[in-house]
Amino acid sequence: MLTRELVEERSFFDGLAVQPADGLLGLIGMYRADPQPGKIDLGVGMFRDDLGRTPVMRAVKAAEAMLLRDQETKSYLGAEGDLRFVELLAGVAFGTGADRLVGVQTPGGTGALRLGAELIARSRPGAAVWIGTPTWPNHAPIFRDSGLAIQTHRFFDVASAEIDFEAMIEDLAQARAGDVLLLHGCCHNPTGADFTAEQWQEIGRLCESRGLLPFIDLAYQGLGDGLAADAAAMRGLLGALPEAVIAYSCDKNFGLYRERVGALWVQSDASDLVRGNVLALARSIWSMPPDHGAAVVRLVLENAALRADWAAELDAMRARINGLRMALAASHERLAAIGNQRGMFALLPLGPDAVEALRRERGIYMAGNGRINIAGLTLDNIPAFVAGLAPYLS
Ligand SMILES: Cc1ncc(COP(=O)(O)O)c(C=O)c1O
Repeated sequence: MLTRELVEERSFFDGLAVQPADGLLGLIGMYRADPQPGKIDLGVGMFRDDLGRTPVMRAVKAAEAMLLRDQETKSYLGAEGDLRFVELLAGVAFGTGADRLVGVQTPGGTGALRLGAELIARSRPGAAVWIGTPTWPNHAPIFRDSGLAIQTHRFFDVASAEIDFEAMIEDLAQARAGDVLLLHGCCHNPTGADFTAEQWQEIGRLCESRGLLPFIDLAYQGLGDGLAADAAAMRGLLGALPEAVIAYSCDKNFGLYRERVGALWVQSDASDLVRGNVLALARSIWSMPPDHGAAVVRLVLENAALRADWAAELDAMRARINGLRMALAASHERLAAIGNQRGMFALLPLGPDAVEALRRERGIYMAGNGRINIAGLTLDNIPAFVAGLAPYLS
């Protein structure tokens, strides 16, 4: 065995720091190995049905069969991906008002976030991105690894389970013209707390008056209040401001997680310049995005029957999540705010010790910060879940 000294002398990679393991992925293995009957998995953020499955959606299955039958070539598509997919998805995301947008297909919402971050870093090296706390844990690494500076602002008060909008605006008073403001379009991850229409308007005015670029992450359209309702805030902001960036994921609302389906749009009058640079960046990062999932979404959206069936199944998924939300909210006064929140997640006011005790003693699995995936519950196991939780909620 090499001593540490020798490794340090010899390794080309000794400049690297040891990275923490991904906590959520670790939970999957622990959950599987847990022998407790009635264990509950609220960890990883994927939709689950009443039987705990993450099914392939019916319209997706049908479109995959069509692809298998009809696809005649696997020839290259180009850095922009499947442009018909981008055009049809723009209709879902923006309705009819998508005329000043440059769009490309990306590998998932993560790819869109990264590509947008790289574009910003290319135009404004070292620009600061303002991120509310808490947020999806991958947000800061994506922007930081693109060379941007991270600034955080207060967003959510865990104790009251509400957005602290005043604190957010106070913190953003430090933002400078040319900074970027990251916003969750709907179904905030991990809190489930979305801005009101008035707060969105104030955010729009703030961006305008202070010269901030809004970067909207829309990863859960259709899983909050409906396809159009979940996009309304983003559409309003795009109407009010000259420039914006949107990272979109189809991985949740089409259940395509591992297929990596997303899109990046940039609203700007400098559209040719933006398009050329987005394509050059995509070319040097992944050359072109994977085709299968986007081709499936294209087929679903261009076929009226498949599209209607997709929308109906998405409605049912949303109804399941919101039904569970209401049941949870009614089950304990400290959980009442969950009924007003939306999307797959809620952030419980639990410290790491409580999270660990619930796992060990009750077989209840959640992210270390107390985030639960509501879709991992069933109406049947909510009483046992809340009974386990109650001692920690007082
Ligand atoms: C807020 C948010 N943005 C983006 C993503 C990325 O989604 P994708 O799997 O399409 O990369 C996720 C995934 O969990 C998310 O929660």
